[in-house]
Order: sequence, then C-alpha cells, then structure tokens
Amino acid sequence: MTPPSNPINLNDPATRDALHARLRFYRDLGIGEFYRREVDSALWAQPNPQSEPQPAPAQTQATPPAPPEQLFPQLNQEIDIAPRKPFPAAPAQAEPVPPEQHFAALKLIREEIGDCTRCALAKGRNKLVFGDGDPNAKLMFVGEGPGADEDASGLPFVGRGGQLLNNMIGAMGLKREEVYIANVVKCRPPNNRTPEPDEAHTCSPFLFRQIDVVRPKVIVALGQTAVTYLTGEKRPLSAWRGTVHPFRVGAKLIVTYHPAFLLRDPNQKKHAWADLQIAMRELGLTSPARK
Ligand code: URA
Repeated sequence: MTPPSNPINLNDPATRDALHARLRFYRDLGIGEFYRREVDSALWAQPNPQSEPQPAPAQTQATPPAPPEQLFPQLNQEIDIAPRKPFPAAPAQAEPVPPEQHFAALKLIREEIGDCTRCALAKGRNKLVFGDGDPNAKLMFVGEGPGADEDASGLPFVGRGGQLLNNMIGAMGLKREEVYIANVVKCRPPNNRTPEPDEAHTCSPFLFRQIDVVRPKVIVALGQTAVTYLTGEKRPLSAWRGTVHPFRVGAKLIVTYHPAFLLRDPNQKKHAWADLQIAMRELGLTSPARK
C-alpha cells in the first residue's frame, strides 16, 4: 500500500491546532520538550567526546544523519529552534502592604498595566485578564494565560478549565471568592498557544507584584508554564510535584497539573487531588468530606 504523500498538512489550521493540543498534553505530562530545543547541527555529525573511547574510524564511514532542519524543512517553518535566552531575574520582592490596602494596591498595578501594548499578545486581545479573587487570599492559583472565554469576559478561568478549577477549589472546602487567581500572561495567546518567553517575561513582573501584594501562604502553580515562569527554572512537572517549595513572600509553592490537561486526561485527577491535599495541609484545611 502506498502511504499518503503528505499525511500532515501544517498549513491546515485544524491540523496545527490538533498538533499543538497534543504537544501541550505531553508537555503538561512532563514529557520532554518537543520544541524550542537548542539544536546545534554540527553536533549531529560529531562523536560525543564524553562517550566510551571510539574504535578507529573504518575506511568507509556511514553518512552522518542529516540535521533536523534538512530532514524536516516543513516542520522547521513551524518550530522555533532558536537558542533559549537565559531567564531574567524575578523583580525584587516588594515591601508588604497593610491588608486593608491590598485591594487599592492591586488596583494601582492594574492601572499601571493600562491598555497594554508591551508585547505582541496585545494585538489579538479583546479583554486583558488581570486577576480575580480575594486581595487577602491565603491561597493563590497561577495559570498560564487566558483562553477564549477569559479573553471575552476579562476574568481568569471561566471556561471549561475554570469550571474544573472551581470544583477543585470546592473540594478543598473553599469558595472561589476566597482565593486569588492570576496567570503568567494577561492576554490571550493566539490559538491558545503557549506564551512565548519574551511575552511571559514582559508580563510576569506584574504577576510577581500581585503576589507581593496578596502575600498568599500557598501558591498553586497550574501546569508547566506557570511553574517555569514563577521559578525561572525549567524542569519537568514531575520534578516539582509532590513537594513544597519555598517561594517569595514566604509562600509555599505547590505544583499540579493544569485543569485543561485534567480535562484531556481525567485519570490524572487523583494525582492533582494529592497535590491539592498538600496545599490543604499547608493551609490547615480539612477536606469537607472528612469533616
Ligand atoms: N487557562 C489558563 O491558564 N488561564 C486561564 O485563565 C484560563 C485557562
């Protein structure tokens, strides 16, 4: 049987969306990086100096594999293989604000952001999604960036993922109004793609300032993008989950799966619940079911 000559058409938006969704799924699972890898094509043709001593090369050497950009020229149009820039340092922690001034302090940050055009995400935005919830919350959730529903409403986590997040908050014995919710980027990335590093680095200082005002006891990072840009460290989700990480303002950082990932793979919900129970322990909460 002859295989189809071009089974993947990357010019087809539906195919691209499906591929992006699949990449995000694997990424949220913590499996490697499928894009934005540094690729030095010279390395492909050289032996690894760290490996065992190599036998003398035979007279007829096998042809080294072609660099990936030659093998997959079409993919190369889609995948940015530029070397990753080092993460800028997070801004210095701000002085605490008295609890009764938290609301006004957050309002000031929102005003400073204004009708933002600091990065390319501004172009596709309907509403900027600043953050939502109790300015004195003990628990804060940080997601990746607004989706279509959030872009339309101006509020974080109001779509299907938001419904699930609300249920997760409810299972912890809390109401959504009692927590604070924000994202790494405040404007919707096109096609819900992962924010580009320059977009995330441009926007995240405002998130850090929100954290410094709210001063939650516990921050739950929802998914890989959130923990990467909160910590400035790129490690798989599996390396973060299951442990409490000291964070700025004396908060405890706990990492779990993004609700969108849990919608795609509901079998992982039990693991997310285990993560939330760590957060509950840190907050001194008992599950409503066990009261
Ligand atoms: N996904 C996010 O990461 N944040 C939102 O606000 C909505 C969906």
